[in-house]
Amino acid sequence: MSVLLTGGAGFIGSHTAVAMIEAGYDVIIADDLSNSSLKVIDRIEAITGTRPAFYRIDVADRAALEPVFQSNRIEGVIHFAGFKSVPESTRIPLKYYRNNLDTALTVLEVMEDYDCSAFVFSSSATVYGETNEAPFVETMPTGSATNPYGTTKLMIEQIVMDACKANEKLSAVLLRYFNPIGAHPSGLIGEAPNGIPNNLMPYITQVAVGQRDHLSVYGDDYPTPDGTGVRDYIHVVDLAEGHVKAMDYALRHTGAEPINLGTGQGSSVLDVVTAFEEASGIPIKREIVARRPGDIAVCYADASKAKRLLNWEAKYDLRDMCAHSWNWQKNNPKGYDD
Ligand code: UFG
Repeated sequence: MSVLLTGGAGFIGSHTAVAMIEAGYDVIIADDLSNSSLKVIDRIEAITGTRPAFYRIDVADRAALEPVFQSNRIEGVIHFAGFKSVPESTRIPLKYYRNNLDTALTVLEVMEDYDCSAFVFSSSATVYGETNEAPFVETMPTGSATNPYGTTKLMIEQIVMDACKANEKLSAVLLRYFNPIGAHPSGLIGEAPNGIPNNLMPYITQVAVGQRDHLSVYGDDYPTPDGTGVRDYIHVVDLAEGHVKAMDYALRHTGAEPINLGTGQGSSVLDVVTAFEEASGIPIKREIVARRPGDIAVCYADASKAKRLLNWEAKYDLRDMCAHSWNWQKNNPKGYDD
């Protein structure tokens, strides 16, 4: 059965491609490579022994996307394609609204035209906003996101829910990711941010490999056990497995289901630094600085709905996540660049 992964060459998309191929799906990747590399396709093949079909296209371009549906009998779509930098979205909001909404709308429209009715969306815990309190449960009202990137996730969730109400054949799972880190245990695929990383783990691994001098810890005066921000870090391979289960579910049901993908465990910034130091044997120089605007104190999932509906739960712990992130970074100090 063929499934299209838009943005399938990215960090989460590539790990999901591996998991989907291993689960027996025929994987088709559509990616414009604006924040990824063609080498990812070779690496997916090296891991799985199967080369996914690959189309270098912008999925917001209907004329480029339609032939993909014409040449393949696509039964489901996992939609990752979109811009994801929180600070950039605050600087250039229109770019984020234009791109993230356009890609989602075009994919949904083309799916309808080609009678493809299972949709899995790459959403985010950011939809819970600032006013809900962790653990975040899917029944909570979604908040107002603290940045335009987060708002695009909220808007697309709404669009998908409305589309499912209007089209009874359509089935969607809105996967609300917590904080994906780690890498494939092979060390062949992993996170390769452009420029200075915004997120904690790639920043730590770049300090470890000597590309950055020290980690800035954004605030130690939060109401948390050690004062630093608490997040629900989840291994990207567990997350990928959650997509396989979500697609299996979407193919058998109708309607729209928001589902958290997290471990249900919170870890502070300093917990992550310590776990990384233990896993890698490398001390991480750090400096406490002011809070980062828009950050909340505590964010972790109630992960019970994923267990109940998808029979999915995370298997890897924080130490594995750190060991695999380090394995990826030390084997690929420049990411996919030569
Ligand atoms: N942090 C630092 N120093 C850094 C980077 C991060 O101290 O250099 C801290 C943050 O303040 C936060 C924690 O590490 O407490 C995690 O920060 P990340 O930037 O890695 O992740 P966020 O929780 O801010 O954001 C992530 C995703 C977003 C998504 C959000 C949902 O990157 O896409 O989770 O809650 F919207």
